[in-house]
Amino acid sequence: MGGAELIGKEEQEAVAEVIGRGVLFRYGFNEKRKNIFRVLEFEAAFNKYMGCTHSLGVSSGSAALRVALAALGLKRGDEVITQSFTFVATIEAILEAGGIPILTEVDKSLNMDPRDLEAKITEKTRVIIPVHMLGVPARMDEIMAIARKKNVPVLEDSCQACGSSYRGKKTGTIGSLGTYSFDYVKTLTTGEGGMVATNDKKLYELASYYHDHGHEHNPELPRGEDAHSITGFNYRMNEIQGAMGKVQLERLDFVLAEQRKHKAQIKKAIAEIPGIEFRDQPDPAGDGGDTLAFFLPEAKTAREFNAVLAKEKVDTKILPSAMNWHFVGKWNHIIQFCPPYRTNAWPQSEALLKRSIALPISVRMSEEQISRVIEGVHKAAKEVF
Ligand SMILES: Cc1ncc(COP(=O)(O)O)c(C=O)c1O
Repeated sequence: MGGAELIGKEEQEAVAEVIGRGVLFRYGFNEKRKNIFRVLEFEAAFNKYMGCTHSLGVSSGSAALRVALAALGLKRGDEVITQSFTFVATIEAILEAGGIPILTEVDKSLNMDPRDLEAKITEKTRVIIPVHMLGVPARMDEIMAIARKKNVPVLEDSCQACGSSYRGKKTGTIGSLGTYSFDYVKTLTTGEGGMVATNDKKLYELASYYHDHGHEHNPELPRGEDAHSITGFNYRMNEIQGAMGKVQLERLDFVLAEQRKHKAQIKKAIAEIPGIEFRDQPDPAGDGGDTLAFFLPEAKTAREFNAVLAKEKVDTKILPSAMNWHFVGKWNHIIQFCPPYRTNAWPQSEALLKRSIALPISVRMSEEQISRVIEGVHKAAKEVF
């Protein structure tokens, strides 16, 4: 489950200290808050951790996507390419911004299939959003090469992969902008919250204006006299989230290390089972480790396999249990906004997802829990194959 498993004394003290001071707003009230700004401090620490120059705390990962699209200047009717397997928020953010979602297939990495990106990119494409699903980085080299060729900015949805990396760079810092979610089930949690990260000062400024009604945050002026050149909305992070985020960020490397260790142990113990094929890893070292996904030969075997796991009290995560929220094939309410001049069917993704199983990996996983998962998978294989 991630950072939530470790919430303890440090988070309690950090939050209590903010409440004790009585200033919960990220801007202003300098004297009352004794010039202590927790969201600002969290953003600075996040820059350092991610290796980027600018981070902006926001109210959720969904908000981060919306703010990032505004910073990129997305206009009504602009096409945005993302993928058929994601959380619904990625596509909702495009629709909220007035964009038209164009959705690619996913490949065996369960992330954007670069070949389908190449097939679907056109002169109308304004932004490409690869999603690092379930902690595993997407094929960023191929995606970036296609994007560069067409001069289209890449916005990485790293909401499920805070702390993951690809070839030495943290996911979310490779494209023009990256987004992160700190909701309750993520590797780093502030209850609800999110971050936009970038190495581009101009994009940061636009994101910062947009997330706060257009305020330009001129330190020389009182907030009420601040200039505004664009409209915006309220997607601000508050000081309680900032304080909590700072503490959780210090735990992030431990979260990732424990998840990776448990995942490796389970993976090794089930690797020899014939019929199990692990999901592709574009950069195995950069996997955040919170999920172990594999394919079974057919949809039918996956359904049967899942039934045995449920009987053995082995949980699954998203696949297949939460497909309704993660695959466009299940979203008639979204498909109605996909343009009819594109093929609105994703047979490759659907076939892969229907034969997938994803196991959640947690930070505090006892040897007994790990053994139960391993035994459950072996039992399912024995019964099904
Ligand atoms: C891929 C993806 N994008 C965006 C979001 C939205 O994040 P939040 O729940 O913080 O709004 C999520 C949340 O699960 C997600 O998984």
